[in-house]
Amino acid sequence: MSFLVIFVFTCAAKAGLSQNISDSCPSMCKCTTEDTVLCIRAGLKALPGEVAASTISLNLSSNYLRTLNTNTFRNLTFLHSLWLDGNNLTFLTPGTFHALNKLRELHLSRNSRLTYLHANTFRGLLNLISLDLSHCNIFEIHPLLFSHLPSLESLDLASNNMRYVPQAFSNLSSLTRLSLEGNHIEAIGRDSLKDLEMLYDLNLRKNRIWIIQNGAFTKLLRLGMLNLGHNFITDLPNQLFEGLIQLKTMHLEANKITAVDCTFRHLLNLRNLYLNNNQISSISDSAFSYLHKLHFVHLSKNNLSSLPIRLFSGLTKLKYVFLSHNPWNCDCRMLWFWQWMVTRRAVIEGLDCAFLGPHNTTVLNDPRPGDLMDCTVSLELASEDKCREAGTSVAPEPPTLPSKVILLTFAWNTWYSARG
Ligand SMILES: *[C@@H]1O[C@H](CO)[C@@H](O)[C@H](O)[C@H]1NC(C)=O
Ligand SMILES: *[C@@H]1O[C@H](CO)[C@@H](O)[C@H](O)[C@H]1NC(C)=O
Ligand SMILES: *[C@@H]1O[C@H](CO)[C@@H](O)[C@H](O)[C@H]1NC(C)=O
Ligand SMILES: *[C@@H]1O[C@H](CO)[C@@H](O)[C@H](O)[C@H]1NC(C)=O
Ligand SMILES: *[C@@H]1O[C@H](CO)[C@@H](O)[C@H](O)[C@H]1NC(C)=O
Ligand SMILES: *[C@@H]1O[C@H](CO)[C@@H](O)[C@H](O)[C@H]1NC(C)=O
Ligand SMILES: *[C@@H]1O[C@H](CO)[C@@H](O)[C@H](O)[C@H]1NC(C)=O
Repeated sequence: MSFLVIFVFTCAAKAGLSQNISDSCPSMCKCTTEDTVLCIRAGLKALPGEVAASTISLNLSSNYLRTLNTNTFRNLTFLHSLWLDGNNLTFLTPGTFHALNKLRELHLSRNSRLTYLHANTFRGLLNLISLDLSHCNIFEIHPLLFSHLPSLESLDLASNNMRYVPQAFSNLSSLTRLSLEGNHIEAIGRDSLKDLEMLYDLNLRKNRIWIIQNGAFTKLLRLGMLNLGHNFITDLPNQLFEGLIQLKTMHLEANKITAVDCTFRHLLNLRNLYLNNNQISSISDSAFSYLHKLHFVHLSKNNLSSLPIRLFSGLTKLKYVFLSHNPWNCDCRMLWFWQWMVTRRAVIEGLDCAFLGPHNTTVLNDPRPGDLMDCTVSLELASEDKCREAGTSVAPEPPTLPSKVILLTFAWNTWYSARG
């Protein structure tokens, strides 16, 4: 088969149809079409001279390139994508890419000696959409670095050495995706992200964030994904997430959060909430009241002994609740929860009560008398919605609530037969 392909190729070349390929392909590279040049793991210390000026995609991944200068890419004005990841780049001379005004994606990841980027490094890249600078050792970025990239939509700065959010984001008005995962950032200032009005996906996972100024996210009206997991956040002030009206997924897992009050009040479109691996021991009864689209809540590995009675009231979309590894107090205070569980048929995982484990049918078949069987309790519901005041002026109607004392009587059979 490959013989046939070579034969056909040779004939074509002889016929003059592919002359430019053989003419211009550097010997250590592969040129799959006229416009794509692959020089991956080719031991290159410099750009080979024979790369055709018509090249559209150039892959120099995993070589030994150390420096680039203003002449390196001067003739490659048709380039759309350029891969320079996994080299030994130590300095990008200002103006290195100045001729590449058609370039759409630039990959510079895994250049571990790249620590600083000069203001004019990316000058000329007027059509650059995607820039990958992950897994380098960047610790400082000039405030004007990205001001030359008016079309940039995706910026990956994950796994670098940054200790603060660079000021350089102010001109990135087209940016939809930003990753700063795996740096050493400790604080998010009020103005750090204020110009990123198109941002949809913000990844701040695995940093050392413990300070977030109120208003830091206020301008991110289009944000759909916010990842703050694996940081050192202890408090969630009520105004913290103001502005995130389009947010669908919030990651706050593996922080040091101890209490949840009204902080999620503004997230009217939230679907997935990750609060697992914290130290939460209290959740306000209206903490989730406005999250009418909530679908998934992860509360495992916390310090919860019970949940407040109206926590899930009005949340008709809620389908998954993960609760394992909490010191649950399986007493009458959680009665409401069993009833909710039975009527809603949501997937509840990990409520490790000695007398009733949804995952343990053995126990289900053999309830201990006196646990929930005779549980008759009266529960007073607060008539006011604490989180309503915590909200902004555009507060929607709070969910309707019974305002007086209601009496709940729970019989074991109700639970059991509904399940069976
Ligand atoms: C391909 O080669 C021919 C002659 O060898 C030349 O006329 C033509 O301009 C070349 N095309 C490109 C895109 O370099
Ligand atoms: C370039 O090479 C890298 C590493 O092998 C690979 O991940 C990437 O997909 C390649 N890109 C193109 C356009 O060939
Ligand atoms: C760029 O092209 C010019 C002629 O068009 C040539 O003289 C020069 O050597 C080329 N430069 C590089 C770096 O290939
Ligand atoms: C990378 O460059 C540094 C100097 O900047 C040099 O000491 C080192 O040997 C180079 N590594 C490789 C793999 O070429
Ligand atoms: C970058 O933003 C600053 C203020 O945020 C503005 O004055 C400047 O004109 C912008 N530069 C570009 C190239 O858009
Ligand atoms: C767990 O919560 C209890 C109060 O409910 C508190 O006394 C205890 O210190 C908390 N433990 C941790 C590890 O936060
Ligand atoms: C299920 O309950 C039995 C006691 O009835 C207990 O021995 C067993 O460990 C439980 N299994 C799980 C997975 O909790």
